[in-house]
Amino acid sequence: MEFVANSLEEHWMPFTPNREFKEEPRLVAESKGIYLTDHKGGTVLDGSSGLFCVPAGHGRREIADAVHEQLIKNDYTAPFQMGHPGSFQLAKMVSAITPEPINHVFFTNSGSEAVDTALKICMAYHGACGDHRRQRFVSRERAYHGVNMGGVSLSGMVKNRDIFPVCMPYIVNMRHTWREKDRFNRGQPENGEELANDLQRFCDTYGGHTIAAVFVEPVAGSTGCLVPPKGYLDRLREICDQNGILLVFDEVITGFGRLGTPFAADAFGVTPDIMTMAKALTNGCQPMGAVAVKDEIYDTVVDGAPDGAIEFFHGYTYSGHPAACAAGMAAQKIYRDENLFGRTKELIDHFQNAAYALEDMDIITDIRGYGLMAAFDVKPGAVAGALGPQIQKRLFWNGLHVKFTGDAGILAPQFIATRDNIDEMMDILRRTLTEFS
Ligand SMILES: Cc1ncc(COP(=O)(O)O)c(C=O)c1O
Repeated sequence: MEFVANSLEEHWMPFTPNREFKEEPRLVAESKGIYLTDHKGGTVLDGSSGLFCVPAGHGRREIADAVHEQLIKNDYTAPFQMGHPGSFQLAKMVSAITPEPINHVFFTNSGSEAVDTALKICMAYHGACGDHRRQRFVSRERAYHGVNMGGVSLSGMVKNRDIFPVCMPYIVNMRHTWREKDRFNRGQPENGEELANDLQRFCDTYGGHTIAAVFVEPVAGSTGCLVPPKGYLDRLREICDQNGILLVFDEVITGFGRLGTPFAADAFGVTPDIMTMAKALTNGCQPMGAVAVKDEIYDTVVDGAPDGAIEFFHGYTYSGHPAACAAGMAAQKIYRDENLFGRTKELIDHFQNAAYALEDMDIITDIRGYGLMAAFDVKPGAVAGALGPQIQKRLFWNGLHVKFTGDAGILAPQFIATRDNIDEMMDILRRTLTEFS
């Protein structure tokens, strides 16, 4: 099954060293269940659920059929001033599993768009409350909130922003939640309040009444599974409540079962005001994101506008696209009918034990994990961040896909994986890391 492309030159690939990749391409020709088939016919276990988005496994016929049928029946409906049944049905399904009172859903086409939409919802809400002083947003170091200008402005990753210097003003970053003393800690580290008090310091410095919202990933995913220390999210919630600040959880990775509960909000028992989501919403089968908000936010914005007026001047040509909604509904049905979030719970201990077993390898300098997600840091080479991608490449040819961010590898198996699949994944990982030791 050798793949012959006429040319790899024209496609400018995202987040990829294009020149290097095109000399040694790694193309996926087929995907089924937890396995991919590369263009040379090799089998690759998908150890990161693609990019955290395919928990029900690749090639789900129910989803493909639903999209096919939808496209035949009604391929596109203009989403402004008209609608189609699917977006209302999917919003109902999503709001059925979001924590109360988060019951209103705005659809986007990606996680990045969800984050930028959430920023605008915060502005619209405070505007509707007549509170125009709240212009400052708080984010965190090592945060990843996508690649649109709002998300980049919130981002705490230097490479994602240093060549894009013109970002949104009035954003301040709290410290990230990785601490030297927590290396190889299992589960949530202790003493999160101290880190969360960064927000209190911002309130003391700028005035809590000038802060519109705080954006955090409950577990920072893309920078390597930074687990919130105990009390951290609760303390953020408390400070937000005391100061009228909106708390936004970016659940683009953690949403839809990754931690064994529908959302991280459930896993940590802290309810935000707004949640962003994407990825597993459609099991990765159609591009789609969403922002879910508390009733009070929806009611305030919608009721605050004059009768007959558009309340929120925002939306995308493909907001709630019929095919994406069909995929979303079929994916949500699979999660429910196959009890996949419950199944995740049964796999978590086995997976976490397997991940932490790497601790004996000299090349590993830290392991962090929660739910069905874990990350390991490899000892950096001469240039920090350069070794990880080399390992990632070797892993692919050895039969395992792992998402790397610099020197951090991030494991996120599919919820349909068996214990044997997880053992196979760890065997390939250990064998490959030994090549670099
Ligand atoms: C927490 C978080 N927010 C936003 C995004 C951006 O999502 P997308 O790549 O779909 O735009 C990601 C992507 O990994 C993410 O992890």
